[in-house]
Amino acid sequence: MNSAQNAPLLSVQNIRKRFGAVQALQGVSLDVHPGEIVALVGDNGAGKSTTIKMIAGVEQPDEGNIVFEGEKVFLNGPSIAEKLGIQTVYQDLALCDNLDIVSNLFLGRELRRKLIPGLPKVIRKSEMEEKALPVLRDLGINLPPLTTTVASLSGGQRQTVAVARAVLWGSKLVMMDEPTAALGVAQTKAVLELIVRLASRGVGVLVISHNMSDVFKIADRIVVLRLGRTVANFVKTETKPESVIAAITGATEEVLTS
Ligand SMILES: Nc1ncnc2c1ncn2[C@@H]1O[C@H](COP(=O)(O)OP(=O)(O)OP(=O)(O)O)[C@@H](O)[C@H]1O
Ligand SMILES: [Mg+2]
Repeated sequence: MNSAQNAPLLSVQNIRKRFGAVQALQGVSLDVHPGEIVALVGDNGAGKSTTIKMIAGVEQPDEGNIVFEGEKVFLNGPSIAEKLGIQTVYQDLALCDNLDIVSNLFLGRELRRKLIPGLPKVIRKSEMEEKALPVLRDLGINLPPLTTTVASLSGGQRQTVAVARAVLWGSKLVMMDEPTAALGVAQTKAVLELIVRLASRGVGVLVISHNMSDVFKIADRIVVLRLGRTVANFVKTETKPESVIAAITGATEEVLTS
């Protein structure tokens, strides 16, 4: 994607966050443009998930700004971020195992119709399927029948449901925390292709990954966090995995200061 030509969709500016004695973030900055895939990388504990939680409105920064579509936003809850068009697929996925695929796609947003006054609203499952199927087909998402219980799905299929749910809600920004961590080769390929297709439709994607080969396959830019701080921002085509790994481990700084 050509990110230089358009304004950022999301701009995270120097955010800091402390949890008790732990200074989890101490200066995280990053931009995501429409249609751009930005990989957020860093060692365990570097602050990647915490950063995503700030943008998802799950946690609030102590300092710094989050600017979305040119406006400073105060994301005081996940629903505020969702209303702006920010959807998040978390590390633990948060699907309801006992429900079927379509119910998971519409979780919290079930289409209901009041049939008889005074009686509970009825969830209109067939209409949910009608709404979901064209979107899934359009994105080339292959899933078992939508009435299949999520508990019976494979890891890749569960990941696909979680991503599809984010897509279905017309997001402008989709964030994913290690979407392929638990997946096999074929499933990883399918999820990576889905991410690329999403971005090609103009959605900005911020994806956390520890897998350099995945990162180099799909990312336009690679932002490196180290000890809660943004330490590098690479254009993928202008860097190589060794440089990114050096930034992750701090080897670059050691070389510079030795
Ligand atoms: N709710 C919390 N309370 C206290 N400390 C926290 C909390 N959330 C995160 N931290 C701390 O903040 C730091 C950053 O954690 P974070 O989960 O963002 O790392 P990460 O980069 O996602 O790591 P990983 O690759 O292992 O998922 C860690 O030191 C972690 O222990
Ligand atoms: Mg994490």
